[in-house]
Amino acid sequence: MGIPKKKNSLAKSHKRTWSGRFEEPVSQLVQRYTASVGFDQRLAEYDIQGSLAHAQMLSAVGIISAKDLVAIRKGLNQIRDEIHSGTFDWMLELEDVHLNIEKRLIMLVGDAGKRLHTARSRNDQIATDMRLYLRTSIDEIINLIKTMQRAILDLAEKHTDTVMPGLTHLQVAQPVSFGHHLMAYFEMLKRDTDRLSDCRKRVNKLPLGAAALAGTSYPIDREMVAQELGFEDVCKNSIDAVSDRDFAIEFCACAALIMTHLSRLSEELILWMNPLFGFIKLDDRFCTGSSIMPQKKNPDVPELVRGKTGRVNGHLIALLTLMKAQPLAYNKDNQEDKEPLFDTVDTLSGTLRIYADMLNGIHVNKETMRSAARCGYSTATDFADYLTKKGLPFRDAHEAVSQAVRSAAKKGRDLSALTLSELRKFSRLVEKDVFGVLTLDGSIKSRNHIGGTAPSQVRKAIKLARKGLS
Ligand code: ARG
Repeated sequence: MGIPKKKNSLAKSHKRTWSGRFEEPVSQLVQRYTASVGFDQRLAEYDIQGSLAHAQMLSAVGIISAKDLVAIRKGLNQIRDEIHSGTFDWMLELEDVHLNIEKRLIMLVGDAGKRLHTARSRNDQIATDMRLYLRTSIDEIINLIKTMQRAILDLAEKHTDTVMPGLTHLQVAQPVSFGHHLMAYFEMLKRDTDRLSDCRKRVNKLPLGAAALAGTSYPIDREMVAQELGFEDVCKNSIDAVSDRDFAIEFCACAALIMTHLSRLSEELILWMNPLFGFIKLDDRFCTGSSIMPQKKNPDVPELVRGKTGRVNGHLIALLTLMKAQPLAYNKDNQEDKEPLFDTVDTLSGTLRIYADMLNGIHVNKETMRSAARCGYSTATDFADYLTKKGLPFRDAHEAVSQAVRSAAKKGRDLSALTLSELRKFSRLVEKDVFGVLTLDGSIKSRNHIGGTAPSQVRKAIKLARKGLS
């Protein structure tokens, strides 16, 4: 076919991309400012997939010949190989991923390459690329979340009977099973995957066919392209198809929530591994030392997760702000959607990947956790419930127990360390069986209902959760 192997004077010839309409090429400054190829080249695979499907449809409906289709396929496959092997020559002068690939295609296959852009615009092309990219990313992220959820289940399973102080207001509240506490994160992540799956439905629609904004006068078959690319449906309005990026915003909102959940867990890990808490040890591969204080072991990974959450939240705001004042339909503003979206996907994937590993590096100091639960009168509610069950109205029971706590605190003792006669001073209803409810294990065991912290319930929850994951 006389195909040149390398692009030589392509840049020069491209100075006239916008053809006769323009009297001079854009300045170098403008070229650099407007080019997106530096970051959108990562969409190349999706751009090629979209072009292959588009070409196949053009040929099927008779807009291009079967011969052209063969040439286009051959050229695009070669371009794919060049990109994979790193020999593709990306050119800033060609602005973006689309024009780089198209120009190379024309070099490779001539006129057939020039026909590929029939009934298509870069506006519907980029919207399609973004949706294909995001669909793949969502699938990868859902898998990563599931891996992390499995690590949570493994850790929770080991600690269904491990007692820790449950906190409210960061003060000791009631004893809970550590496994139960971990399962709270499992639930958050479950909702996160549900949200992503739902978001995926709205991502998985085909913009191609919208062309610049109004559709096209060619007899295209959008359903055929949608089917070829695995889209569930076509976008129903051409103006909306090229202009909105709500699918990306929605994804970023899902991502911000996931990062927020991981940030909360990070905050807890940081507290728990602080020697003042001493609840857990994190394997050294996740920590770093200090250049000045020899004793330090810093929880860098959880700290960075917390920090990167700010970045991902920022990307959500960036995309919302990007969209808010754009008149319909496509505006170049939309080119600014890529870096925040790509960075959101990268940051989130990286965080999930490291988290799944880090959970295996957590070692619990059960005794320290248990003694912490003993401080702070964590079974006071159990005492009040005990009195209520014996007939005292809850408000009176609450008052009686708060008196008991005050007196115990004065003596520097736990409620369970008071004698029966001491306890009876606060209510005549107290009998010997009170000690059963004042212990940590008695307390957690008694919360025996769906969603409660009783170890038997936690075991059930873990079992169910495992089933739901497979
Ligand atoms: N690089 C552009 C973007 O990311 C591609 C679409 C360009 N369309 C246009 N009419 N200039 O949005």
